[in-house]
Amino acid sequence: MSAWLSRKVSSLALNEIVGNDEQKQAMKDLQNEFEVTTDKLRTIVNQFIAEMKKGLEHNGATVAMIPSYVTGRPTGMETGTYLAIDLGGTNLRVCQVSLNGNGEVSIQQQKYRVPEPLKVGEMRALCDFISDCIDSFLTEMGTDPMEQVLQLGFTFSFPVNLTAINRGNLMQWTKGFACAGAIGKDPALMLQDSLRRKNLKVRVAAIVNDTVGTLMAHAYRDRSTFMGIIFGTGTNAAYYERMDRIPKWEGGQTKGDEMVINMEWGAFDDERRVLPVTVHDNKLDRESINPRFHIYEKLISGMYLGEIVRNVALSLIDRFLLFNGFSSAEFNKQWSFETAYMSTIEIDASSDLDETKRVLESILGITKTTLADRQMVKTICHLVGVRAARLSAAGVAAVMSHCDLLQKDCCTAAVDGSVVEFYPNFSETMTKALKELFGEDVDKKIKFAPSRDGSGLGAAVIAMQVSKGM
Ligand code: BGC
Repeated sequence: MSAWLSRKVSSLALNEIVGNDEQKQAMKDLQNEFEVTTDKLRTIVNQFIAEMKKGLEHNGATVAMIPSYVTGRPTGMETGTYLAIDLGGTNLRVCQVSLNGNGEVSIQQQKYRVPEPLKVGEMRALCDFISDCIDSFLTEMGTDPMEQVLQLGFTFSFPVNLTAINRGNLMQWTKGFACAGAIGKDPALMLQDSLRRKNLKVRVAAIVNDTVGTLMAHAYRDRSTFMGIIFGTGTNAAYYERMDRIPKWEGGQTKGDEMVINMEWGAFDDERRVLPVTVHDNKLDRESINPRFHIYEKLISGMYLGEIVRNVALSLIDRFLLFNGFSSAEFNKQWSFETAYMSTIEIDASSDLDETKRVLESILGITKTTLADRQMVKTICHLVGVRAARLSAAGVAAVMSHCDLLQKDCCTAAVDGSVVEFYPNFSETMTKALKELFGEDVDKKIKFAPSRDGSGLGAAVIAMQVSKGM
């Protein structure tokens, strides 16, 4: 992971905080609230393994464990040109992927920002937007969409219960999307209809979760790839499962003896049995567009971490322990404290915490901060960030245990997403937690490999497999 993690956390011990006794006590209390001890981690991992089993046994489980219909492992020798799109966060990516064999690829791609109103408008309008982007991309590429039918891998990064490689029903929206007329419907069919309306000869060959795409993209280059994990706006993982360990599978004989499972682990512990959910997390959950859903994701992923920090800070302001009891109009706004600010603050090593001051005063409009204020905000960021990384490790550990990875040769987990890419020390903190659980040698059993924007390539690899009947 080193390519991604050159920025280091500059940590601050609680006894360095220059505040008064009450402020120091508040920080100690927060530390206790946010700490995930090794024992707690073990409890979470055990529960995770049990929930994975339930998801593999029957439909409707909290951790959905969705069979992806992707069975084969790519050899890297496959060739051909495919289209892929990736929808699931801030941008829509449209790519033309040429698989050149020998694990080599060339990708041409274009990003289009998804306008906020479309994320909460009609699904039909969102599909039309996607079709228009595909159309303008093809025009730019000089590809005539009327000439031959182009095969498209559609990365749609939301929970979709698949009924075929290119058919399924959207179970629910996450990450701030809430389009009307989509839940229970087939996103692939809706996009296909829109493509037809616009006379584009593009066939949705596969609907792919971004974790599955990330896994397949990396597997095209490295056959030891076993998992795909996203720690970004949202979080989720996919891995290869043995067919005889998926009792709920009713799809008949498959080509291979294993299938990629899209775990949809963001919903883990929606029953709130083991996760250390604080009042600050509950506030965030209650004010989100999907209350009571995806609590694990809300404790871990980039869409939410900054908001948790803001909630903790607001509670201290209300107790006159921070910013002398004053917030600002900006800081009072939901989502105003971006997760990216946490990274800036975490690496702020200046004695006066100048960068932290800039974020709080210049960006967020807090009138005047003291050094103690800034130290407290830095501490909160650290507590929330470390908890996220340790809880993330619990999911990885559960898959490792469930699949007996500790007894096997080293395997690779392809990882992508803004949190793992930009949050300082995220993967180191995760690895440290894995070592507490499994011993120092754990890094000889699992290797985290950055797979930046891999899901588009993965979707193209899957479209290739489908169109070649693999
Ligand atoms: C979605 C998953 C997706 C993950 C990462 C979650 O909110 O439910 O399908 O893989 O975000 O993008």
